[in-house]
Amino acid sequence: MRLRPALPEDASAIARTEEVAAHHPWTREQVAASLALPTTRGWVAEAGVVRAHLLVSSQGAEGEVLILAVHPSCRRRGWARQLLRAACEAWTELGVEEAFLEIRADNQAALRLYAELGWETAGTRTSYYRDGTDAVVMRWQAIPGGR
Ligand SMILES: CC(C)(COP(=O)(O)OP(=O)(O)OC[C@H]1O[C@@H](n2cnc3c(N)ncnc32)[C@H](O)[C@@H]1OP(=O)(O)O)[C@@H](O)C(=O)NCCC(=O)NCCS
Repeated sequence: MRLRPALPEDASAIARTEEVAAHHPWTREQVAASLALPTTRGWVAEAGVVRAHLLVSSQGAEGEVLILAVHPSCRRRGWARQLLRAACEAWTELGVEEAFLEIRADNQAALRLYAELGWETAGTRTSYYRDGTDAVVMRWQAIPGGR
C-alpha cells in the first residue's frame, strides 16, 4: 500500500471503508462535502483500492480529526500511525498549535493508537454518543520546531 493525499474522486471508496470499519460511518456525500472545503486535508492508503483514510480540518491554530478508518483486512500494519503522522506534519507546517478529537471510551484500539503518538486525554464528554457511551477528548500539541 502507499500513502497519498485524498482526491475528490476518492469519496466513494472512503465511504465504503467507513461503512465496514467506522463506528459512526460518514456517507459519500458527507465525505465529498468535507473534501471540498478549504479547511479539510485528507490522505488515503491504497493498493489499487483505497483501504484506509484520514480526514482532518484546521482553522487558524486549531486542528481536528474528522474521520480515520482502516479496512479490517489491513489493520495492525501501521497505516493509521502513518496517516496520523502525515496530518501532524501538515498541521505543523500550517502553524496549527493544537488539535482535538473525540474517541468512544470503549475504543481501546484508537485510544492506544493516539496515546502512543503523544496525544493526551483532555477530558470526557459524558453520554456523548447516541447509545450512551462517553467520549474521551484527546489533544495533540505541536512542539515548536516540529514533531
Ligand atoms: C483504530 C484504527 C484506525 C487503527 O488502525 P491500524 O492501521 O490497525 O493501526 P496501526 O497498525 O497504525 O496501529 C498503531 C498502534 O495503535 C495501537 N493499536 C491499533 N489497533 C489496536 C488494537 N486493535 N488493539 C490495541 N492497540 C491497537 C497499537 O499501539 C498499534 O501499535 P502496534 O501494532 O505496534 O502494537 C482501526 O482499528 C480502525 O479503523 N478502527 C475503526 C475506526 C476507528 O476506531 N477509528 C478511529 C476513531 S477516532
